[in-house]
Formats: sequence, C-alpha cells, structure tokens
Amino acid sequence: MRKLGLAAAALALLGACAQPTAAPTREALVERGDYLVNNVVLCGDCHTPMGPNGPDHTRHLQGAPNLTTVSIPIPWGEVAPPIAGLPANYTEEQFIAFLQTGVRPDGSHPRPPMPPYRLNEDDARAVAAYIATVPRAEENAQQN
Ligand code: HEC
Repeated sequence: MRKLGLAAAALALLGACAQPTAAPTREALVERGDYLVNNVVLCGDCHTPMGPNGPDHTRHLQGAPNLTTVSIPIPWGEVAPPIAGLPANYTEEQFIAFLQTGVRPDGSHPRPPMPPYRLNEDDARAVAAYIATVPRAEENAQQN
C-alpha cells in the first residue's frame, strides 16, 4: 500500500513537471524584446544613426554608417544595415537563428564590429518579435 502511495506521488510529480509552460503572448515577447534591444544588447548603438546627443531615436534601427575605427587591418563592416521591421531577406525564423548563432541564412558571417550574438532561443524570439514591430523608414522600404 505504502509503495503504491509513493508511486502515485511520483506520478503526480512527473505529471506536474510535464505540464507545458504557457507560451508567452506575442505582446509579452515584444515587451521583453524591447527591453533586451534597448537596454541589454543595444543594437541601436550601431544600427541607429548618431545625432549630436547620441543615437537619433527618430531613426531607430534604420541603419547607419559605422563610425567606429580600428587600428588593426581586419575586414570591417562599413555600414550597419537597416534592421527595423526585420533585416532585408530574413524570415523571422531565420533572424531568430541568426541571433542564436551569428551566422547569416546563407552560412556567411557579418564582419566586425557586428557582435556574433549567442542569445538563447527565448531571448532571440523576443528580440525578433520586437524588431519586427519597429516601422521601416520610407527610404529603406524597398530593401525589404
Ligand atoms: C557594435 C556595432 C553593432 C551592434 C551593437 C550590432 N550590430 Fe548588427 N551589424 C553591425 C555592422 C557594422 C554590420 C555589417 C557587417 C558587414 O557588413 O559585414 C551588422 C550586420 C548585421 C546584420 C547582418 C545583415 C546581413 O547582411 O545579413 C544583422 C541581421 C544585424 N547586424 C542585426 C543586429 C541586431 C539584431 C543587433 C542587436 C541584437 C545588432 N545587429 C547589433 C554592427 C553592429
């Protein structure tokens, strides 16, 4: 009898562990992505053009010339492309994979100073969901 009770308790515990955790709503994902992009991974430091007071928020993630310089001869990305509304030619799933691996959909790697992010899947999904909501400026629209 005691054994049965234990087995039942173990089964109940297993059942509790197996409960799928509710997937976050799209709204919650976007909110977390907003926090990550604008407070943690700071994509806008390079992908938003600089104004006299720092990144020009009216052109959030619309792409910018790379103003950083290096004193060592390495291949260097000269422009941080627009990523608002998703980078050109990426599906959202491809963008999520990129944020987890640093590898483009075609297998190539962006040049420095683009960081090779290794976000976990939850964070990558949040970042992509948020960036997908950022409107793409008119002058960049044809690139999508
Ligand atoms: C330190 C500056 C810097 C930061 C921070 C940065 N990027 Fe970049 N990013 C670049 C540069 C420069 C390139 C262009 C690299 C090249 O031309 O090879 C680039 C390229 C990319 C590309 C490649 C587009 C393509 O050609 O396939 C994507 C996507 C991208 N960045 C997204 C992001 C996201 C999302 C974030 C934040 C999570 C971010 N970047 C943060 C500088 C940066």
